[in-house]
Order: sequence, then C-alpha cells, then structure tokens
Amino acid sequence: MNIPKLKIGNITSNIPIVQGGMGVRVSLSSLAAAVANEGGIGTISSIGLGDITAHKNEYEKISREALIREIRKAKNMTKGNIAINVMEVLSNSEDLIRTAVKEGIKMIVIGAGLPLKLPAIVEDNSVNLVPIVSSGRAAGIILRVWDRRYGRTADGFILEGPLAGGHLGFSNEQLDQIDDYSLEKLLPDVLSAIKSYEEKYDKKIPVIVGGGIFDGKDIARMLSLGASGVQMGTRFVCTVECDVSHEFKQAYLEASEDDIVIIKSPVGMPGRAIKNKFLKNMENNGKLKIKCPYRCLTACKVDKAKYCIAKALLNSCEGDVDNGLIFCGQNAHRINKKVSVKELFSELCAELKAA
Ligand SMILES: Cc1cc2nc3c(=O)[nH]c(=O)nc-3n(C[C@H](O)[C@H](O)[C@H](O)COP(=O)(O)O)c2cc1C
Repeated sequence: MNIPKLKIGNITSNIPIVQGGMGVRVSLSSLAAAVANEGGIGTISSIGLGDITAHKNEYEKISREALIREIRKAKNMTKGNIAINVMEVLSNSEDLIRTAVKEGIKMIVIGAGLPLKLPAIVEDNSVNLVPIVSSGRAAGIILRVWDRRYGRTADGFILEGPLAGGHLGFSNEQLDQIDDYSLEKLLPDVLSAIKSYEEKYDKKIPVIVGGGIFDGKDIARMLSLGASGVQMGTRFVCTVECDVSHEFKQAYLEASEDDIVIIKSPVGMPGRAIKNKFLKNMENNGKLKIKCPYRCLTACKVDKAKYCIAKALLNSCEGDVDNGLIFCGQNAHRINKKVSVKELFSELCAELKAA
C-alpha cells in the first residue's frame, strides 16, 4: 500500500502520524522536530513549563518564555510541521495559545475540556484548530457551538480512545467496560458527527485516532476504518530524541503489563500510569504537602489532592521516578528497546506498507 498523506486544513504531512503532545516536559522541541523531520507532525506540549513555586504573573511569564524558546528551537531544527498541545483546563491556556500563534504555529491541539471559545482566541483562519475528543457527542457539541457562535468549523479532530496514556476522557465505569469504547466503536460516531459540517463548510475534517496504536498494522487498520491518521504518544517516549529523563524511559522498558494501572488524578479525571514506588506510597494513605501559589489547573482540587500532579510529573520527568508519576499508554510494556525517531518511523512505515 502507498502511504497516504495526512491533510489538516492547510497542513500536509507526508506520513499520517501525529506525535501526541506529552505534558510536563516529555514532548518538547527535540522530539517534535525529529518527528517533523521524518514527515510526521511533531507536537510540543505547552503544559507544565512554568515554575510551580511561582505566583501568577511570574508563573505565566516563565511558561510563556519557555514555550517561545521551545518553538524557536524546534523551528531551527526542522522545516516540517510542528503543532502545540494545550489543555483547556490550564489556567493560562489562552496565554499559551496566543503565544504559539504569535510564534507562527499553525496547528493547535487542545484537550481536557470542551474548547468552546477557541475560535474567539484564534481568529486567524490559517491556524488549524484540532480538538481532542473521546466521543462523537463531544465532537458534535464543539462543532455546533463553533458553527453557531463563530461560523467556523474544526480543521480536524483527535479521537483519543481508552488505551491512551495520560489523562483519559472516560469515567471509571466506562474504563471497566473498555471494549465498549474501543476506537473501532467510537470512530463511526465521530465520523457521523462531522459529516454535515464537512458538507456545510465544503471541507474534509480529518479524524486522527490515538490510544494504543503500536505498530504499522494498527495504523493500517485505523486508516481502513476511515481515520485519516493516527496519534501516538507512548512509542515516542523511548526514543533517543524524547526530551524526558533516562530514568523515565527506563521505567517504560522495565514495565510489565501488570504494572500499568488506572489512577485517579488529583485533577479529578482517571489517568494511566506505571505503578511505581510513588503510586504505592500514595495508595497507602500517603499525602504530600502541597504548596500551590498559582493554581495551574482550574480543575485541580488542591484542598483534597493527595499530591501536586505537576510536581509529581516534573519529578519523574527529571529522573526522580521514585517520587514521581509516570504516565504511559496501555501498550508501554510492549516496548523493549530505545530507538531513534528515524528508526521508529522506518519500522512503522515498513509495517504499514506491508499491511
Ligand atoms: C507521558 C504521556 C504524557 C501525556 N501528556 C498529555 C498531555 O499533556 N496532553 C494531552 O492532550 N495528551 C497527553 N498524552 C496523550 C498523548 O498525547 C497521546 O494522545 C496518547 O498517548 C496516545 O496513546 P498512546 O500513548 O497509546 O500512543 C500523554 C501521553 C503520555 C504517554
């Protein structure tokens, strides 16, 4: 099979693979640029770039400057496609989006909440708006509101299924019936939710699916079901270029299937992570002192939280995995070696062609 290109608005990517944004400094310029250089779309995560001990203005300034630095670094390393990832529930999401647009980013991927006001923040139609959803219903709500309020439609959707890493857009009850929410079952709902808007706006709204995509065979299967591309996170963690610590990557390489668990994040959403010393301590009624001068997440229940999720992710990102949270996708245990992004793309493309 010839590998189809992925078109998102005015962006064309030669390989239909989007590297998922991975927050708190896992996917920064090094990984994103390497992916873009192989013909995929590389995503810089704008999440957790601030100093969690800083107060509002200072936090926002540090965050903004760090994002600018990462975008400029990436642009120096590649002429390929770079997106930024942001969470709707971040207190400074609007500032980060405006910053990215000013720096010339042409694709904003936004999850963790319904980004109903996004077209008001990004008025420039040449910037592609790509919400992350976990159901056709959520896609339908976004499309309806954007159409009515702004006369604009989405340039694409990321459909993230329940096998993904990080925070998940499913309840614990849904995760107990995981087979009912497979990408294979969710994709037709999203395709049907976008259909009338594709007709009205006379444009294709590509759906990119993510969560548990591991090899070229998985990619081929998703394309055959109507997806325009895939988003992959976990497989990019154990690449040489991934910006996270060696210890974080090593935790993936050593994890068995049983080590991968669903946690209740202090943000109130379920998430998937590796069960390590930190999580065991927290399970045994551990509670850490939280200093939170800024409140980086609007949804965080600071008074009830057992730990600061930003601090826990930062610890593991910097190598202190015994005191940190290690987000991962369900298939992390299948990774058994560290490779370069180039090697990973060669492997995936060969498998995709053969499938
Ligand atoms: C370590 C890690 C951190 C992540 N952080 C974020 C994030 O900050 N924002 C987001 O939208 N998705 C995040 N994700 C989800 C990825 O962008 C991607 O959609 C998902 O990992 C795809 O599933 P896969 O890991 O099975 O390939 C994260 C995933 C991982 C593994």
